[in-house]
Amino acid sequence: MDFIVTPKTFGETEGALFLPFFEKQLQVPASLSKEDKSLLQQAFQKFSFTGTKDQAFIQLLPSGKTAVAVGLGPKESFHWNKLRLALATAVSLAQKLQLTSIACETVLSGHSQKEVVHSITETAVMATYTYEQKQQKKPQTLTKVVFVGVPKTNEGTVKKALEEGKVYGELNAAARTLVNTPASTATPHYVAEVAKKIAKEHGIRCTVLGKKELAKKEMNAILAVGGGSDNEPCLVVLEYQGTKNPALRHPLALVGKGVCFDSGGLSLKPALGMETMKMDKGGAAVVLYTMAACARLKVPLNVVGIMPLVENLPSGTSYKPGDIIQTMSKKTIEVLNTDAEGRVILADALHYATQFEPFAIIDLATLTGACIIALGNVTGLMTNSPEIAGVLERAGEKTFERVWRLPIYEEYFDLIKSDIADVKNIVTNMGPSPAGAVTAAKFLEQFVGKTPWAHLDIAGSAWAEEPNGYYSKGATGAGVRLITQFILDWVGKK
Ligand code: BES
Ligand code: ZN
Ligand code: ZN
Repeated sequence: MDFIVTPKTFGETEGALFLPFFEKQLQVPASLSKEDKSLLQQAFQKFSFTGTKDQAFIQLLPSGKTAVAVGLGPKESFHWNKLRLALATAVSLAQKLQLTSIACETVLSGHSQKEVVHSITETAVMATYTYEQKQQKKPQTLTKVVFVGVPKTNEGTVKKALEEGKVYGELNAAARTLVNTPASTATPHYVAEVAKKIAKEHGIRCTVLGKKELAKKEMNAILAVGGGSDNEPCLVVLEYQGTKNPALRHPLALVGKGVCFDSGGLSLKPALGMETMKMDKGGAAVVLYTMAACARLKVPLNVVGIMPLVENLPSGTSYKPGDIIQTMSKKTIEVLNTDAEGRVILADALHYATQFEPFAIIDLATLTGACIIALGNVTGLMTNSPEIAGVLERAGEKTFERVWRLPIYEEYFDLIKSDIADVKNIVTNMGPSPAGAVTAAKFLEQFVGKTPWAHLDIAGSAWAEEPNGYYSKGATGAGVRLITQFILDWVGKK
């Protein structure tokens, strides 16, 4: 997608015009010709358009431009996501008419220009994303967004917001592509190679620990889960140095679950829907592309990214229910279900993360079906730090990658106490299993020591069953914009 910034007005541009309207506030752009304005007014009548959310129409104007009008709903209940969704609607209508460019104004009464440009830019990138591997792939016709009405004095601000929006959109899309890549291609080795490449392009240090190194470091939990596949497990470590200030020596650690395919292992999943389990590397993808975002935005913070990569498959060398694993931290895990593998690999990855002496650890994982039951497509947040919770919640509101906090009360540990190991990997009571998302988080907490830590369960947010707004069906890249925003806000606060 190309972006252009120009002082020209709507009246002076060609192609499609993006016209978002607040409800019952249908002022037509002043720069349009008299004929264009009058036809647009008539179109409001013809389509009974009042600016309600989800209303939209397309009208060819006498000047040859195409008006794409979309309702934003009431001005009082504005949220940036309403602008994003309005643009996504406009993009999809413009694509249907095979239009090649869309012009947007950068002012929306009462709102920050920077945010308008950022939101439109990231949305244009996200809304035109597809992961189609058809021979006769439909080409994306819309390839240009023109920001109009920007005087030279203002160009710098607009271009900066544009760059930021591009980083958010492009790295969200890159994460989607990695997650959408089928498991027989995107093996642990493949993902590690992608990480190496991205790291090199962004000046990030990248180390890959293979099976031998994992054994040397006694990361037996990662080795156990990865042991069932011919494609060997590995652990990718990314180090972004954003500052040399000794006072800011401690990094933020990001840890992402990278189960390249989760069949459940010997505790095999049902066939129905198993294909979606290529998404189980979603956390790792977020870590990788958030690190890239940090580099592109030159964030003045040190960040370490850790991606344990495995395939969870049944075979003669699989780990088995009943196994007891001694993790790198020396704590032991009793495995009662091999499908609760994410927490097992994260046990080693989180403990490893503590060795970088981070000021905080954030992990992202498509961890539990229980989180989907609890929150649908909203990300679950479980944390020992109210401060991190606050910043994450605000970043979630801004990016609309919203998070909702769930408790990790001390008493939940009772549910994962084992008779023969330090902790067991599932709750084993009769009947429906209680507090699945929370007990998984309680398990993870055992491996972070005293480090301030937040766990994001993205099981429900990483994947869209149907196209929705600026998401196409499949991976959503949820987490990249959230954590990037978190980091920017955290740095801004300190
Ligand atoms: N990767 C799954 C969780 C998941 C489910 C992610 C659906 C996305 C969509 C995870 O490894 C898993 O299988 N969890 C089990 C845990 C259970 C065995 C305690 C689950 O949630 O059913
Ligand atoms: Zn599983
Ligand atoms: Zn899993």
